Amino acid sequence: MTEPVVDVHLTPEDAARALRAEARAGLTAKPKWVSPKWFYDAVGSELFEDITRLPEYYPTRAEREILIARSVEIAATTGAHTLVELGSGSSEKTRLLLDALRDHGTLEEFVPLDVSTTALTEASAAILADYPGLGVHGVVGDFTEHLAGLPGSAPRVVAFLGGTIGNLIPEERRKFFSSVRDVLGAGEWLLLGTDLVKDPDVLVRAYDDAQGVTAEFNRNVLRVINRELGGDFDVDAFEHVALWNAEQEWIEMRLRATRPVRVRLAELDLDVEFTAGEELRTEVSAKFRPDGVRAELEEAGFELHRWWTDSQGRFALSLARA
Ligand code: AVJ
Repeated sequence: MTEPVVDVHLTPEDAARALRAEARAGLTAKPKWVSPKWFYDAVGSELFEDITRLPEYYPTRAEREILIARSVEIAATTGAHTLVELGSGSSEKTRLLLDALRDHGTLEEFVPLDVSTTALTEASAAILADYPGLGVHGVVGDFTEHLAGLPGSAPRVVAFLGGTIGNLIPEERRKFFSSVRDVLGAGEWLLLGTDLVKDPDVLVRAYDDAQGVTAEFNRNVLRVINRELGGDFDVDAFEHVALWNAEQEWIEMRLRATRPVRVRLAELDLDVEFTAGEELRTEVSAKFRPDGVRAELEEAGFELHRWWTDSQGRFALSLARA
């Protein structure tokens, strides 16, 4: 069997350095924050997979419904030779696109990009085994920094699914969309999944499920910090908070100290104090309106070619042309 090619733009040392720098910045800021990209160690990735199967967490099912309905049209419209997938966690939804592009007869190469070398190598090997003749060229990198020199022959479709764009605040999204536009030639494509603004109760329930899986996923980031930074967070001293920020139109996840907590982070030579009730922001998950998505894409130099939602209008998929 052919081996997948993997380009490493981000070594484990780079990732460790980034975590140290961000953790120092975020844990000494007011209010305190950490980046959601540290959720996804092996345990966190498993917990996220569990979240996608929860009754309250609709985005995965809604996006899958759209892809089942529209993959053939996406393949026919784009005639893509390369499918690039940014932040390619599990490849289930990707397969719907790969199948359609293969059946359309244009597919040559799959380019998954992810910060995790293990996730990338496993996903690449599985795709390679199931799609004989397909070139697989993985890139270990951070989609906010390592898009330059993206491999694959044109026309390419860059898929950014799941609503992960919502983890970026507006200024970061501006930078991200224009960096995607910069690496694409005219006539190449961006396929973007966005969760939509809806009843706040439905949104909050999706991030604060009855079984407490999201709470465990949230608290796991403290275990990641303990392991990677020699920390001694008492994970049980923090409770999960999910709230709707109506002004910014995003869900915020936080961890609230239930008593005064002192944390030593040996690798940073840093002590951090939490007062009782103090909160640490761990994630922003922005929700979108159709006009807003269109405006952000057009500002970056994309033309919004197609806009699809699931039957309940909860989630949207945009196909934009560079
Ligand atoms: C993977 C970023 C799309 O924001 O809905 C799920 C992560 N956080 N439950 C999202 C998440 C809490 C998810 N994304």
